[in-house]
Amino acid sequence: MCGIVGYIGRQPCTPILVEGLKRLEYRGYDSAGVAVVEAGGVRVVRSVGKLAALEEKLRGTELKGTVGVGHTRWATHGRPSEENAHPHAAGEVVVVHNGIIENYLELRGELSAAGHEFLSETDTEVIPHLIQRFLRDGADLEEALRQTIARLDGSYAVAVVSAADPDRLLAARRASPLVVGLGEGETFVASDIPAVLGHTRRFIFLEDGDLAVCTREGVRITHADQGPVDREVHVVQWTPAMAEKGGYKHFMQKEIFEQPRALADTLSGRLGAGRAAVHLDGGDQADEIARRIGRLHIVACGTSYHAGLVGKYWIEGIARVPVEVSLASEFRYQDPILGPETGLLLISQSGETADTLAALAEGREKGAPILSICNVVGSSIPRASDAVLYTHAGPEIGVASTKAFTTQLATLYLLALHMGAARGRLSAEDLAERIEAVRAVPGAVERSLESDPHIETVARSIMDATSSLFLGRGLQFPIALEGALKLKEISYIHAEGYAAGEMKHGPIALVDEDLPVVALSPQGATYEKMRSNIQEVRARRGRVIAVASESDAEIADHAESVLRVPDFDPELLPIVSVVPLQLLAYHTAVLKGTDVDQPRNLAKSVTVE
Ligand code: G6P
Repeated sequence: MCGIVGYIGRQPCTPILVEGLKRLEYRGYDSAGVAVVEAGGVRVVRSVGKLAALEEKLRGTELKGTVGVGHTRWATHGRPSEENAHPHAAGEVVVVHNGIIENYLELRGELSAAGHEFLSETDTEVIPHLIQRFLRDGADLEEALRQTIARLDGSYAVAVVSAADPDRLLAARRASPLVVGLGEGETFVASDIPAVLGHTRRFIFLEDGDLAVCTREGVRITHADQGPVDREVHVVQWTPAMAEKGGYKHFMQKEIFEQPRALADTLSGRLGAGRAAVHLDGGDQADEIARRIGRLHIVACGTSYHAGLVGKYWIEGIARVPVEVSLASEFRYQDPILGPETGLLLISQSGETADTLAALAEGREKGAPILSICNVVGSSIPRASDAVLYTHAGPEIGVASTKAFTTQLATLYLLALHMGAARGRLSAEDLAERIEAVRAVPGAVERSLESDPHIETVARSIMDATSSLFLGRGLQFPIALEGALKLKEISYIHAEGYAAGEMKHGPIALVDEDLPVVALSPQGATYEKMRSNIQEVRARRGRVIAVASESDAEIADHAESVLRVPDFDPELLPIVSVVPLQLLAYHTAVLKGTDVDQPRNLAKSVTVE
């Protein structure tokens, strides 16, 4: 997804912009560019492909300016090309933009009729041209930007510089994230905090409708309807090192191994010491929603959706509250039945996923109380929710979500316990027992990570497969879906997750001696049934890779390989059993030599619908 960095200060800005863009690489991009305000005008340098290509082009230039903007683009309108890469210019005005301008064709027609010439296929290019038109009508840069954004439909985060106004960097947002970083004698803008975390920890999160005028001394913000506003300055605790790989080969690997720590952080302060209580740590409103609602609708995308599917089992099983789970992209077409009695629970690592935000708007319109589970503090979804439960997993950079998933699961489990206790569905004894079990989760995940070297050898045995099947039942069914998603997204091996009982209704036709079938068969209520499915696969010469409990000695006779998980409370086992599947996907991808952290065509944060 697109990334924005902007700088105004006293240092040459090009290295700061390029370094910032590098820190946003994880968002996924297909082209990049920078614009620097120089004595003779704004110089724009752009290129297709990775940032190394842009750096190569910049080597031949002598850019010394101290004000500029940079951008990484992930194509939405117009193919990836140098002409379509940002920044886009109209005369002296230069703009970078994230989001989609929905009425750009109409605006483009209007501007073309007035003599403006367009050089790209993008929606973005109308922005500098509109600004230029208002400047010609006599507005100053700030006023021209204000008038421009009033004409835009859709979503945007923009940063603007102009040769005619060389001591200001302007920024504005609606429905696309943008932060202002405050330094000493320098000010930054960025779509994402890690871009400039090496320079400052003091951030202002711009709100929808905000327009920021940044100078070397600081920032002045006005809101479209409210006029001048004071926005809170947040001190972000993440260090740049936390966003680096920390000795691991890939961010994904680092994040898989960070899970025991991340889970401990999720649980920290939420489990009552000595007495049986779960604190949601989401404020009074979170408690109130959890206690009051009669039904719950969980909405999310991708991996977060899989967490929601597990959450349904827990909340229905423990609190006896009916739960429906929907994909955010489908939610609005269902005309969902929502109201004050039905809570909407949004799950999102980034807090910026466009479809999930659209679901939130739908819930708001229908009067549902809105709770979210999110990792990125201050992002759009938590800010628009009535209450938020943060997962506290730390920054997740690898596109394939790992620690965000397990910490979402832990948070959902705490929510289920809290709801169960609040409704009298759990006795103090039951609750205390479950709290003890959840305390043991980080340790169990740690143990399952010990199988890493063995999992690498199993990965070697499946790396040449073209297709694979992941089977699970009950609580392990969403884990089968998640295991398949992990493998397909980073190793590009086709993988299907299936409810094991459904195998006979279709996928069994695929089974032959080339098809790896990953069977989630740890001890628990569905163990015997999974054993039968394993036999069915073996009878057709399929290759079984079983995920099984440590104490299950027999399983080795029925499977080609076994991925071990510790003997553990079956109710909480999904948080543990997903770990070998994350590692299996990771090693398979590494062996195949794919781009593990930035798989092709995927983005970490999907901010378009
Ligand atoms: C993208 C990411 C996935 C993520 C999904 C939902 O597809 O690549 O890892 O699960 O978006 O994102 P969210 O931030 O809302 O959890």
